[in-house]
This record gives sequence, C-alpha cells and structure tokens, in this order.
Amino acid sequence: MKVSTGKTKFWAGGAGVLAASALVLAGCGGGGAGAGAKEEAPAESGEETVAVEGGDCGEGMVVGVAMPTQTSERWIADGNAVKEGLEGAGYTVDLQFANDDIPTQTQQIDQMITNGANVLVIASIDGTALSSQLDAAGAAGIPVVSYDRLIRDNENVDFYVSFDNYLVGVAQGTALLHGLGLVERDGTPVADAPKGPMNIELFAGSADDNNAGFFFNGAMDTIQPYIDEGTLVVKSGQTAFDQVATLRWSQEAAQKRMEDLLSSTYADGSELAGVLSPFDGISRGIITALQGVGLGPTIAEGLPIVTGQDAEIASIKLINEDIQQSTIFKDTRKLADRSVQVVQDLACGVSPEANNTEDYDNGVKVVPSYLLDVVTIYKDNIEQEIVGSGYWTAEEVEAGVSK
Ligand code: GAL
Repeated sequence: MKVSTGKTKFWAGGAGVLAASALVLAGCGGGGAGAGAKEEAPAESGEETVAVEGGDCGEGMVVGVAMPTQTSERWIADGNAVKEGLEGAGYTVDLQFANDDIPTQTQQIDQMITNGANVLVIASIDGTALSSQLDAAGAAGIPVVSYDRLIRDNENVDFYVSFDNYLVGVAQGTALLHGLGLVERDGTPVADAPKGPMNIELFAGSADDNNAGFFFNGAMDTIQPYIDEGTLVVKSGQTAFDQVATLRWSQEAAQKRMEDLLSSTYADGSELAGVLSPFDGISRGIITALQGVGLGPTIAEGLPIVTGQDAEIASIKLINEDIQQSTIFKDTRKLADRSVQVVQDLACGVSPEANNTEDYDNGVKVVPSYLLDVVTIYKDNIEQEIVGSGYWTAEEVEAGVSK
C-alpha cells in the first residue's frame, strides 16, 4: 500500500492525513522504509486505509535532515536546532549540508533513503531538482517535510514549515520605505514625507527558491505605489524579478551586480537612496560595493538604506553600527521546534496543525503549511529582540561573529 497513489485515506481524518499515514507506514510499522502498517482500520467506500499505532511512536526512528549550505549561519543554526530537537525527542538524526550544490544534495537524500530513513526533513537548494528523490521517498512510504523552502512539482511533499514569506517581503518593503522617510514602521504613511524623486535599486533572491518570489512580491506590492506616483524611481529600469534575481543568494554575485549598477547608472553622480535586499548575505555584498565607491561608511554619512533578512550575526553588527538599515528576524529555533512537532505528530498519527492550506501550491498540490511570524530588526530593537531572546549575545553582536 502506497500513499503516493493518492487513494489512501487515514481513518483519523483531517489535514495532513496522507503524510501521517505515510509515516505510520515508514516508521511506526517498524522495519524502516516501506514497512507496512500492522493494523488496518475499516475501509470506507473503496479507499485504502491505514491504522495508527499507539505507544512510543517515533522512538528509534531515523530522520534524514537535508540542509542547503553551511556558508550561511542561518542554515547551520537550523540544522543544529532540528537535530537537537529531534534527538531530544528520541529520534536518530542524519544531518547533511550540501554546499549549495544540487548534485551533492540529491546524493545525500538518495543515501538517506538507502540507509533507511523513516522521515525526511528537507530545505532544498533548487526546489524543482528533487523529483527523483521524492518519487523514491513516496514509493518507499517515507514522508517528506519541506523545511522553509517549498519543494515543487512533486506530490510527495507532505507538510511545509516556514515563515510567512509574503509578509517577509512586505516587511522588507516597509523597512525600505521607512528608511526613506515615507512610512512609519507599521507602514502608516508619514504626513510630511519627502516627495522625491528618490532613486532605488532592487535585488531578489535565487529564482530556483520558491521563497524568492514570495519575498519579491510582498516587497513590490508595498513599494510599487511609491514608484507609480513617482516618489521612487528604479533608475536602472531593472524591475522584473528575472532581472534582479541573485542565483544561490550569492553575496559575490550581488556585490558584482551592485558594482555594475553603480558604474552603469550612477557614474553621473546621481544619488542612490536605497536598495531592496532580500537576504543579509546579499545585503553585505551590496554594502561592500556601495562603500567601495566611497558612499558612507554609515547611513548617517550617506550610505544608502539597505534592507535584509535572517538576522545573521555579521549583519546584526552592521545594523548596530548604522551600516545596514534592517533585517527580518526569522527565529530559526521556532522553525526547528515546529518541525520537530510536525515530525512527532506524523509519527504518532496526529494531523500536524496547519495555519495555511491555500497559498503553497507546489505545482502539483497545495501543501498544508505552518507559517511563523517574523520581526523587523532595526538598530534600536537589537537589544530587545535579538539579545533579549538569546538569539545572539551582546558580545556576539559587538564582535559580529557567533561564538
Ligand atoms: C531562503 C530563506 C531565507 C534566506 C535565503 C538564503 O530560502 O527563506 O531566509 O535564508 O533562503 O539562504
């Protein structure tokens, strides 16, 4: 019996039931991937059914955790937090990082399946590149939790845990407008705001990451009215997602594109007021390029407003020093906790709690999702939100490196 036929029905009912049934098959049934459930509940109208086993569901199961890269602190933190949480709950964890290299990630996942993983938690590099791995997982009855980035074009994605990616984009757009004096932090227009025109430039994330479009759309929905009325001008004319995307979220590629923009569009001395950046690594590349032509070095000294995302320690230091304007804090501890909860729920035959069952269509199906909230960080709330929550210590903020 395979959940991937789409015919299996979980007798407990509710959202996420296919995932739950898959896990029951893969894990609680014992014997690793593809093992059958021990007991069947009554069939309903010709649909296959599986039963939930009670007891120590999940105990001793193996969870494969595939993370994209170690070049960004957030993914190291994510990987470690998920591993710790799952181990604390009695699972054995196979944690792998893929150096942002697609073949490395596909091999790692293939290996996890071969080694008998009972559940997979995957943060993909390219959301469309894992089809054969997901087909294999589906065939073996191994449930897949898509972690932070939605895996696309495959039915064997059982649950999605992330932050509200569209609202991340809205928060980035709002932070940019706030830095330019156009809105309050909550997005309320400022009464005597500058009329402009002020020049801005736009950066987006990696086009193969489903999140990048959500971030860009959220940000553009927020700032487009100011472009339409002429207060903001994208002087390069590069406003389409494909023109502003940054493959693999690369800091170096972002620095290079910013340098090119400065020499092609701003060499005549026109002022650049702000840059929309979707990720702290990209922000640091942009800032290096801006400082490289003598802007700043701080915002007070004329550095353009640059947004960000992830509250990476190197960027928190820059924000604290009035160099980067903002970042979006996605508390990876909460994401990891939620993922552990989802794995446990599935293991125990409980439907994971979803708070979004509409927005994350992966091209084949709408994946039930749990989306967490985010907080915009400026210099003056680092103390409360970042240090106060224990995410980074004051010492780390000062040093700009994690201890
Ligand atoms: C996205 C993620 C962001 C950021 C980016 C670059 O998928 O949602 O928070 O980490 O990747 O790593």
